[in-house]
This record gives sequence, structure tokens and C-alpha cells, in this order.
Amino acid sequence: MMTMIPILKTSLGELYQDDCLSVMASMPDEVVDLAFADPPFNLGKEYTSKIDDSRRDSEYVEWCKQWLDEMIRVLKPGGSLFLYNLPRWNLPLGAHIGEKLTFRHWITVDMKYSLPIAKRLYPAHYSLLYFIKGDKPAIFHPDRLPVPCCRHCGGELRDYGGYKDKMNPLGVSLTDVWTDIPPVRHAKYKKRAANALALKLMDRVVSMASDPGSLVLDPFGGSGTTFVAAELTGRRWIGSELECSDIVERFNALEGDREHLADIQANKNTLFTRDDLKRRQKYGKPLPKEYRIQSDLVPQCGCADSEQADLGL
Ligand SMILES: C[S@@+](CC[C@H](N)C(=O)[O-])C[C@H]1O[C@@H](n2cnc3c(N)ncnc32)[C@H](O)[C@@H]1O
Repeated sequence: MMTMIPILKTSLGELYQDDCLSVMASMPDEVVDLAFADPPFNLGKEYTSKIDDSRRDSEYVEWCKQWLDEMIRVLKPGGSLFLYNLPRWNLPLGAHIGEKLTFRHWITVDMKYSLPIAKRLYPAHYSLLYFIKGDKPAIFHPDRLPVPCCRHCGGELRDYGGYKDKMNPLGVSLTDVWTDIPPVRHAKYKKRAANALALKLMDRVVSMASDPGSLVLDPFGGSGTTFVAAELTGRRWIGSELECSDIVERFNALEGDREHLADIQANKNTLFTRDDLKRRQKYGKPLPKEYRIQSDLVPQCGCADSEQADLGL
């Protein structure tokens, strides 16, 4: 499919150490099922690839439009395009994409540990734009999430009252506000660039808008989170990055990511996480039978901590 030589090749994917515009230019039209981009945010950050991350606003937006047009060209009819950026940039960029694709969602991804900006509201979310080519998505199966529980006793943080028997035993429907995405802070990933996305985020996007065998594209590889999520879930993938050593290193030792992903997957599409079930057991709170889940149960969380407990899991 490509005339260029990949710096990394697996049975499912190919990574090109080159400018994303050249890489996408060598791809045929309408071959990609899911295109995801997490570009530099033009915040003056230093990247190992030494890119200019402090362009004039208009220059940055024009550059983004160029690679977005390429992503749109290579997207299949019914394919999905996701753009992760600051609300400030996703406003003009979303308007541009909307001229060619169909808008689905502006997903709010809760931003952990951001810094306050003087004379502004405290920025607390990233924007994840979701568009499709044509009227209907070819693939759409969003994950379901566990109910938020007290991290001390495992009791539900919200009162589901008389609705417990109506709740899907596979979990709560995914909304367009994602508060459960952790920052990449784990000691295991200390070396990873500060701007690496969480595997949980990429697993959610990949699971929602692709199937095993689908082709996933990410023009801004970074540390390779999109490619890892695709590789470990049987999707084909293609990507570019100007400085690929982090990705190559990561693919040489995928075991940590494999374990991490197994943990992420064990705790979705279920009404209660394994940890919450263990806590409930410890604190004598078996599940009420109304939940239609095989288990015994007791009352709601009476633990003093439950009201202040973090809603994120
Ligand atoms: C925000 S990071 C992506 C992080 C990635 N999503 C992850 O989870 O690790 C953006 C990346 O885009 C790369 N980049 C910038 N300009 C590029 C270009 N023209 N072509 C390819 N990659 C580029 C940078 O080197 C940087 O690693």
C-alpha cells in the first residue's frame, strides 16, 4: 500500500518516521476505518522531534487543516475521525471538519492536574471531537462503564433507588463527559513523554469505532499509545511520528502495556469493578439482587467518606 519504508513493522501495523503529511500523501483514498489525531497543541512545548510548537495562531490552524484534509481523504465512508485538542483549537478546527464530515460529539475529557491561568476560568477539560464520513457510522459499539463506587467500602456513590432492576448488568451507558481517564503517571511509565495519552482513553476510542481487522490511523504517534491499543486488540494500524525511538522501545517490551490493557478491559462492560466487588465483600455489602447480577448483597454505602469520594474510578 505504501512506497515508503516503515521504521517499525508488526503483523498488524506500520510506523513511518516522517512528516505526517508525506506519509498520508502516499496513502490511497478511503482505506481507513478510524483516524485519530492528538497533535501538538501549539503551547510552546519542547518535543524530542524539535518541532516548532509556538506558531502564529493562524499558521497553526492552517497547518492543522492541511493534515485534517488528508485524514478526511483517507477515511472510508462510514469511518470515524477523532481530534483531541484544547477547546480553543477544536472550535475552529471542528468548524473546518464539519464542512466535510458529519458531527457526532464534542467529548469532554476531564483534565487532571492542570494549572490555573490568571484572569481565566481554571481549564478543566480537553476536547475530543468525533466526526464520521457520511450519515451513519459503519462501526459504533461504545463501552459501558461500572457504576461509581466509594473507594473505601465499595458502596454506590449515587442512589439508583427503584431503578436498580432497570440497569444493564453490563454497565452504565457511556456519556460525552469522560471523568475516569487517569493521567499517565504510573511509575512504570516514568520515562514516557508528558504528553502521552492514557491507554484507557485510546482503548475506549479504538473499541468504540473499530473492529478487529479494521485499519486505524494516527499521524502523531508520540509514544505510540494509539498503536499499542490497536495492536493489542487485533486492529491493523498505520502511523507517523518525526522521532520514533520511544515507540520502537515501547513495542520491544509490550508486556507492561498488555497487562495494563487486560486490567482496563476487565473493569469495563461490567456494572461493578472487581475491586469494588472485593471491597463490598470485605465491608459486608453484597450486591442487591435487583441489579440482576449473580451475587448476594446489602444496603447502600453508609460510609462517611462516600459523599466526598472521587467519582472517577
Ligand atoms: C501530543 S504528541 C502525541 C502523543 C500521543 N498521542 C501519545 O499518546 O503518546 C504529538 C506528537 O506529534 C509529533 N509530530 C509533530 N509534528 C509532526 C509531523 N509533522 N509529523 C509527524 N509527527 C509530528 C511530535 O513529535 C509529538 O510526538
